[in-house]
Amino acid sequence: MKIAVVGTGYVGLVTGTCFAEVGIDVTCIDIDEKKITNLRNGILPIYEPGLEEMVARNVKQGRLHFSTSLAESIKGADVAFIAVGTPPGEDGSADLKYVLAVARGMGENMDNYTVIVTKSTVPVGTAAKVRAEVEGALAKRGASIDFDVASNPEFLKEGAAIDDFLKPDRIVVGVASERAEEVMRRLYKPFLLNGHPIIFMDIPSAEMTKYAANSMLATKISFMNDIANLCEIMGADVNKVRQGIGSDARIGTKFIYPGIGYGGSCFPKDVKALIKTAQENGYQMQVLQAVEGVNEAQKEVLFSKVKKHFGGELAGKKFAIWGLSFKPKTDDMREAPSLVIIEKLLAEGATVSAYDPVAVAEAKHSLGDRITYAKDQFEALVDADALLVVTEWPEFRSPSFEVVGRLLKQKAIFDGRNIYDAAELKELGFTYHCIGVKT
Ligand code: UGA
Repeated sequence: MKIAVVGTGYVGLVTGTCFAEVGIDVTCIDIDEKKITNLRNGILPIYEPGLEEMVARNVKQGRLHFSTSLAESIKGADVAFIAVGTPPGEDGSADLKYVLAVARGMGENMDNYTVIVTKSTVPVGTAAKVRAEVEGALAKRGASIDFDVASNPEFLKEGAAIDDFLKPDRIVVGVASERAEEVMRRLYKPFLLNGHPIIFMDIPSAEMTKYAANSMLATKISFMNDIANLCEIMGADVNKVRQGIGSDARIGTKFIYPGIGYGGSCFPKDVKALIKTAQENGYQMQVLQAVEGVNEAQKEVLFSKVKKHFGGELAGKKFAIWGLSFKPKTDDMREAPSLVIIEKLLAEGATVSAYDPVAVAEAKHSLGDRITYAKDQFEALVDADALLVVTEWPEFRSPSFEVVGRLLKQKAIFDGRNIYDAAELKELGFTYHCIGVKT
């Protein structure tokens, strides 16, 4: 089989590389020449554990190619994925101009039956627009080539993308013909060895499945953040409550960790887009509107605790921040709660010294030199009035508290991810604040 993947962002690059890994001939295409040159030289545009090695291996084996030419790469492809960005417009709806431009390019250049698959998260109805765009381009050149469109949403998580792709819980594919179903089943066969299913459905349902999945997960998180805030007021401990409810299989143990709000490129964008789609069609997503509201408020919770602790006086104080990326194992800073917290501290006249294992270069795009970047987690603490744990990178979980206490000016820790034991820290003489526990 031969496939083309257009867009070498997160989804496109992981998708292309993982298909190459199982022996398929893959060309990843991007209009950004620098990105393609870099990729050919083994330089990746993103950090994802294990991906660099996998790209290098498959390039070496001659199964993974990078190109700026859609025109050449689409020729002879059995399947062509559209994995370009759908940036949110000002009103929150997904902007489809890149997706449709790629579809047009495919129609202008394809020379055999191809299944054209949307992999980017796109609103319900997009595959129909893709089909119209391809048909238009084919008609213009007077070509009558058979093709199908399909919707194949991606469920991988940043930081665990390779594992998620190679061993998926399920694969969802929306199709409108048996021929397309057969091609997609063949393509995904190597990934179904762990017994998890490939679920075929109509195209609009597949498109909706992605938004429903992300919205449900975002809802779990906002729900738990709401419960955490109430626990704190009522003198309950959300860590205990979480365990108490998580063991009920109907609720489950995953995605019920309270914190400082969800971030990243997916939940915030997809929740907004689904609210918008509903509104455009005369329906109000009341639960999701609340989910969004809770999340916006939650990003400020840690800052409010800091401000309260210091009696409202933050000017001239120095704060150490551990973790900048929106979650561990990624350098992605999109919608990262750290940005909200840091901007608020700076606005109060405080200074910030931050440490993150991989996200500093990305963080500099928005924070520049308005904060200092420590070379390790302990350097960040020197003379700081408090430590704020913002991202739960594994190396932050068990530091030497003796050293932490010695380097900090005041023994105060604000833990936005509930990674420490309140009793232990109290015993060591720390002031400790976390989420959803009265301290
Ligand atoms: C999310 C979904 O989990 C993927 O299935 C989906 O494919 C992806 O979006 C996408 O649409 O492309 P991702 O954004 O990489 O993946 O990250 P998650 O691990 O889901 O975390 C999202 C946010 O929720 C993070 O800010 C994280 O800190 C927060 N979170 C997660 C919590 O606050 N509590 C939890 O219990 C879990």
